[in-house]
Amino acid sequence: MIASQSRSMLRAAARQAPGVHTQQCIRAASVFSKVPQGPPAILGITEAFKADSNPKKINLGVGAYRDDAGKPYVLPSVKTAEQQVLDASLNKEYAGITGVPDFTKAAALLAYGPDSTPLKEERIAITQSISGTGALRIGGAFLERFFPNDKTIYIPTPSWANHKAVFSDSGLKVEQYRYYNKETIGLDFDGMVEDIKKMPKGSMVLLHACAHNPTGVDPTEEQWRAISDAMKEGEHFPFFDMAYQGFASGDTDKDAFALRHFIKEGHLVCLAQSFAKNMGLYGERVGAFSVVCASPEEKKRVDSQIKIIVRPLYSNPPVHGARIASAILNDSSLNGQWLGEVKGMADRIIKMRALLKENLKKSGSKRDWSHITNQIGMFAYTGLDAKQMETLAKEHSVYATKDGRISVAGITTGNVGRLAEAMHKVAG
Ligand SMILES: Cc1ncc(COP(=O)(O)O)c(C=O)c1O
Repeated sequence: MIASQSRSMLRAAARQAPGVHTQQCIRAASVFSKVPQGPPAILGITEAFKADSNPKKINLGVGAYRDDAGKPYVLPSVKTAEQQVLDASLNKEYAGITGVPDFTKAAALLAYGPDSTPLKEERIAITQSISGTGALRIGGAFLERFFPNDKTIYIPTPSWANHKAVFSDSGLKVEQYRYYNKETIGLDFDGMVEDIKKMPKGSMVLLHACAHNPTGVDPTEEQWRAISDAMKEGEHFPFFDMAYQGFASGDTDKDAFALRHFIKEGHLVCLAQSFAKNMGLYGERVGAFSVVCASPEEKKRVDSQIKIIVRPLYSNPPVHGARIASAILNDSSLNGQWLGEVKGMADRIIKMRALLKENLKKSGSKRDWSHITNQIGMFAYTGLDAKQMETLAKEHSVYATKDGRISVAGITTGNVGRLAEAMHKVAG
């Protein structure tokens, strides 16, 4: 009765509003009407930056490399490799479930190194992934299915903001261990080791292989050795996230120290690799997930299960970016060129750290800013609190995350002076 009444009212309304179709008027009630509004994502910073009319505004929120003119950078080696891929006129057929084999083989070699025993013994299972995030997600799903102990993964405090979401969505429980010391703006090494020792035997532990995001604070090689010992003692399982190989020190071997040391020490590990930063292939989504197994026979079984996980997620990965990365990794002259370009990016970031510290001193700051040059990689943890970061944005048009993290990649010789003065003013 009510339904027929409302239908006739709608028809009447449609007659009064020519051009409006009756069918449009009787749209069904949305099944999504109760979907709650989620909180704004990190992109809030970019929006605030865009809305600011100050011509001297600075965006230090973005986690992507910028050149000294503040512009996105396409590596010349990537341009050459892409041209080679285009010239080869390859077809666009599907890759296999685990991706482009020439790419995954070379990615494993880059991470584990030519002397790697598990690589030589062919007991590393590897699949191409949708960049580093996809690698972590496959890893999360694999561990949720097959990790034999408690399905809790321990991540550092703080960690890359997406770790918790990725692992929770994979069905794992997420706990944290101490990592950053607010007082020293450095590593809470004792706290970290103590927490590792307190974890239940055989726990999963997420470790940032290099260039820890968001703090830029990495353990020294000696500290990594001690961390490896503590992990062994607890029979814990390391999951390395290596999103910045080469980007931290400028040397892909040096940045792989932690991973390779753990392997030498006999740990069996999982690894998530990303080629977003070190090849600047952000939007191409090139990455890899691998598992170091105990034997080639175990690798075969793990391989089969990775395929079972990937198939219903996205069937198989995109080929274009992987072909570019593969061309770079497999051609010795292009590879040499790329390594030089990675070093160039890392060196510019290291130089900007030094310049920022120098300019802070010049601006009259009496604070100890040595953490800025002690830290490594794309990000610096300034030690500024949320209120100071808000002032930095409101009064100085400098935009970054509330936790005090700045992307050093966004600093240029042109803006470092103004940035230092602004930081000095808000830090007091
Ligand atoms: C620590 C860490 N892991 C993983 C990623 C994943 O990046 P992507 O999915 O772009 O490779 C990032 C990106 O910022 C990161 O900082």
